[in-house]
Amino acid sequence: MPFYHKLGKIPHKRHTIFRKPDGSLYYEQLFGTIGFDGMSSNLYHEHRPTQVKEIKGSYDVRPKVAVENNLKSYRFKGFQVKPHPDYLKSRRPVLTNSDCDIILASPQGSTEDYFYKNADADELLFIHKGSGKLRTHLGNLDFKYGDYLLIPRGTIYKIDFDDEDNRLFIVESRRPIYTPKRYRNWFGQLLEHSPFCERDLRQPYELETNDEKGEFLIKIKKKGEIFDMVYATHPFDVVGYDGYNYPYAFSIHDFEPITGRIHQPPPVHQTFETDAFVVCSFCPRKYDYHPESIPAPYSHSNIDSDEVLYYVDGDFMSRNDIEAGHISLHPAGIPHGPHPGAVERSIGQTDTEELAVMVDTFKPLMLTEDAMEIADETYYRSWLEEEDK
Ligand SMILES: [Fe+2]
Repeated sequence: MPFYHKLGKIPHKRHTIFRKPDGSLYYEQLFGTIGFDGMSSNLYHEHRPTQVKEIKGSYDVRPKVAVENNLKSYRFKGFQVKPHPDYLKSRRPVLTNSDCDIILASPQGSTEDYFYKNADADELLFIHKGSGKLRTHLGNLDFKYGDYLLIPRGTIYKIDFDDEDNRLFIVESRRPIYTPKRYRNWFGQLLEHSPFCERDLRQPYELETNDEKGEFLIKIKKKGEIFDMVYATHPFDVVGYDGYNYPYAFSIHDFEPITGRIHQPPPVHQTFETDAFVVCSFCPRKYDYHPESIPAPYSHSNIDSDEVLYYVDGDFMSRNDIEAGHISLHPAGIPHGPHPGAVERSIGQTDTEELAVMVDTFKPLMLTEDAMEIADETYYRSWLEEEDK
């Protein structure tokens, strides 16, 4: 997060003596990224955060690739992914490459008896259904329908859901996820032409500080394996921190669409960026207002990107037979565009209620076994005229 945040109590100067009421010391930790060159926060713990008691073993959670080299457009029926009581077990990777995993999850329960940390990847959770509280060692964030939760790698967290009906679209990114650089000035402040600003980004507001010692299980993901690490101190024992590295929330409903007289290209919808993929938000908006404009997009060739669209809500004007929870995959190397009749249908329309999240990856995506279970194998023929089918 490129702006400063302070929560809890911190000493007047970093790397100086900071005493508890009983005279003993709090323990400082620098929680940083990109070596010592990226964003970081300074944390103050009740106990040293290094007290590993036991390593109980590890297990493999790498995506199981079913199709490695894909040149076929697909539709996946995301809501067919089965709910699971456990948060981590509910996460089903459907698309993957060396930079990211795209995951669908339908967790029915909160993380009860463990903490979780992803040591490899920033996690971007999009909340399609459900509400609750993300609890982290850097403070808590409430979430509800339409929220993106950006959880930087290394954040220790638990997630509490208000009920059992939850649907998440998750991107695990092995590259840091930032807001688009072109919307920021040389200090990092979001500029006037940005479709959102700092006021829209919600920072952690509630710090849970536990002084307990005992046995605390943290499931730590590293290189596709989850290690069960038992710590002797409570992972949420931070009394205060400040800096730039912490989780935050942004509601897709706070994205202000950029519109024009004629069709605007996908980058106007961009919300996040990495050097390996972008994330865009397609939100309800006015259509193009040139008297002869065609609101539907033109066919376009994604020669360099695989395009993943996750459909959230509203009417998806350029697609036929697409419902909420569906994913379309349009692979690099072939053009795609509106379905038959969609261009004609769009003429004269003035606005759209569509809501969708797009992930464009610069490296091709592989399809997993979980993806093939919810795949529509006939989608690639959906651009044919009726008489040519
Ligand atoms: Fe596209």
